[in-house]
Formats: sequence, structure tokens, C-alpha cells
Amino acid sequence: MDFFHYQNDKLYVEDLPVSQIAQQFGTPLYIYSRATLERHWHAFDNAFGEHPHLICFAVKSNPNIAILQTMAKLGSGFDIVSQGELERVLTAGGDASKVVFSGVAKTEKEIARALEVGIRCFNVESIPELHRINDVAGQLGKIAPISLRVNPDVDAKTHPYISTGLKENKFGVSVEQAREVYRLAASLANVKVVGMDCHIGSQLTELQPFLDATDRLIRLMEQLKEDGIHLHHLDLGGGLGVTYTDETPPHPTEYTKALLAKLKHYDLEIILEPGRAISANSGILVTKVEYIKTNESRNFAIVDAGMNDMIRPALYEAYMNIVEIDHTLAREKAVYDVVGPICETSDFLGKQRELAIAAGDYIAQRSAGAYGASMSSNYNSRPRTAEVMVDGDQAYLIRQRESYENLWQLEHLLP
Ligand code: LLP
Repeated sequence: MDFFHYQNDKLYVEDLPVSQIAQQFGTPLYIYSRATLERHWHAFDNAFGEHPHLICFAVKSNPNIAILQTMAKLGSGFDIVSQGELERVLTAGGDASKVVFSGVAKTEKEIARALEVGIRCFNVESIPELHRINDVAGQLGKIAPISLRVNPDVDAKTHPYISTGLKENKFGVSVEQAREVYRLAASLANVKVVGMDCHIGSQLTELQPFLDATDRLIRLMEQLKEDGIHLHHLDLGGGLGVTYTDETPPHPTEYTKALLAKLKHYDLEIILEPGRAISANSGILVTKVEYIKTNESRNFAIVDAGMNDMIRPALYEAYMNIVEIDHTLAREKAVYDVVGPICETSDFLGKQRELAIAAGDYIAQRSAGAYGASMSSNYNSRPRTAEVMVDGDQAYLIRQRESYENLWQLEHLLP
């Protein structure tokens, strides 16, 4: 459920019409709904009830500091993958002791900073990384809390580019190796084993892969007990899918219930790292139709948002709904390829979409709150879009539109 709805044939975000916000801030424009973000976070948090748990919002899905601030105010934890994300969390008022640090290439500097601010846990992805964390912690006179990212070799049944839990993927340590690596970790002076984690992929629409992964982790955890290694938490990563069009992913409550059925008898805190399930349907990308162009085979709606603003369709052939924002205009329906201004054939927001539109109209791409703005670029020297957060009947600018000068402000002419 989200707080985007039609009222008198006009699309609203909470209490404000999208057209009004678009006119005020210009397009292309990301608009987020605070109530939706909060609702989705609570869906996870409430589902665990009294069982010890921590919901760590995956910062990569939407790292805007106002989004992180909204999460922090709810008491959320954060899943980060870089120092940049850590600094954002801290700037937004996030609690370092609720931060878990994933990622395969943590640098010494990043590890030192994370130790300095006292994060909850490093999700370690390899033996050399384990040694590096141990060394850096030793130099700083600290003990680093660690979890091992186990790659359970489970097929997440999602797009290959966002599948991470197979042996052929670069992530984590295989189940077969993991016991040995835990023994090694337990022998190191400057790390403390506190958990186990996995993340098998993103946009999962079935429960079974999550449950298979959980079973493999439980088996491994039992073996570790024989080695005298006791864990404080189990982190099952993110990955729960959302409805972009007609997918029917499990509700967070259903997912959590299934996890608790397996885990409630263990004295373990459960950590989840949802990104998309919280942020995707909390945002839309509003764009203006600049031209309608028709040839023998196609109608094109050429819009002012491009693949630099939203790369998911180009990168993953992702299908995302595109909707009119004002049905009172009573345009004729036709089938369009909705394409952007970028000089690439893969620059489209959607293909073969039935829309009732004319040049000059605004349209909205739904479910754009995750991996939209966060993956945007300046390709074709296009300034990044503005971002707005709606809270009830208020719209707040949370990222101003870049200027042309911003495009080259870090560049230098030769002497
Ligand atoms: N934890 C880890 C370690 C991850 O690598 C990810 C996502 C998450 C949590 C959050 O996953 P989520 O709940 O959002 O599925 N750009 C792609 C998605 C890449 C996801 C990468 N890792 C897309 O637009 O579909």
C-alpha cells in the first residue's frame, strides 16, 4: 500500500496533486511520499513483534539524506556498502551502532572510519578482508564485530544482474568454506564473531529461495556451535521484491512469519536489510512529454527524463508502470514507446505503453523510489534532477536540481 492515489481524476501524492508539485519544481522530478516510506518500514518492524530484530534500510536503494533522516527517526538501522554511505547516514542523524557494513572491497580507510564511529557489524566477504579488518582494528586498538557473508548457492530466480547468492557470483564465502573461515575468525585477536549474513539477490518474488538460504545458514550455525562459536545475530539481507506491474511478492509480514517459524526458537537477533521493499513504491519519477513523434511502425512519446535519470529499464530491461497524472485532460489513447533525450537506443522508460497523452503533459513512472535517483548520472551532460519529499500537504525540496555549472565544477582547464 502506498499514498499515491487518484482524486477527481488527478494523481496525488498524499495530499498534494502531482501536477502542482511538477509545476513548482520543474521536471524531470523525483517525488517521494514520507507516509509510504514509514508505512513500509513499519511493515517489517511490526512483523517481528517481540522477537529481537533490527531493520537496516539498504542505503544504496535511496541515499538522499532526507530519506535516511526519515528512517533514522523511526529508529531504523542501515545497511551500507561504502564510506560515502556511512557519512550520509551520520549526516542524516543515523545511529552508527545500528549500521552493518556489506561490500566486497572495503578499503583500509573505510574500515578505520567504521571502527572509529562504532558500527554494529562488518559483513565480511572474504578471507583477505577478514585479515585486513583484523589488522586495522589492531592498529587502532579496537575489536571489530564481524559477521561472515555466506553465499548459500541458492538461485534467487531474479534477473541475473541482481542475483548474488550463486557460486559464480563474487559475493561472500561459500557454505563449504565458511566453517573454516569462522574458525580462522575466532582465532584472530582483533575481531569478534557476532553474526552470520547472506544476501541472495534483489527483487525476489517468491519465499522459497529465502527459506532455502535460511535453512543452509541454520545448518552452518549448528556446526559452528560444535566448534564453540556462538552467534548473536543472523542477517538475511534484503531482496524482497515489489509490485512493478503484476508481480505478487510476499508481503513483509508473510516473509517475516515464515522466517520466525524457522528461527523463533533460536536465541538470535534477526537483521534484515530491505531497500527496494521500503523505497521503490514510495517514489515516482515525473517527466514531461516534449514531443509526440510517429512513424510507420511506432508512436514515440519523447520525454524530458532519460536513462541518466532512471537506468533500470536500460540496464535490466526492467518493466515499470507509466501513468497519466491528469485524466481530466481527456486525451485519446494510443500505444507509445516512452523514450528519453539521450543518444542511445536503450534510452527508454517503457515500451509499447497505452497512454492517453499529448505533448506538454506530465506523466509519471511509478515505483521509482529505489535505484532511481541513486543510480543517476550526468551522461549527455544532463544535470541531475531535483527530488522532493511530500509529507501530508507539504512538499519539501530534498535535492535541488543541478545547474549547468555543477556539471563541470570539479573539472579544471589546462594551464
Ligand atoms: N543488502 C545487500 C548486501 C545488498 O547487496 C542489497 C542490494 C540489499 C541489501 C538491498 O536489496 P533490496 O532489498 O533493495 O533488493 N540496482 C538494482 C538492484 C541492485 C541491488 C543490489 N544489492 C535494481 O535496480 O534492480
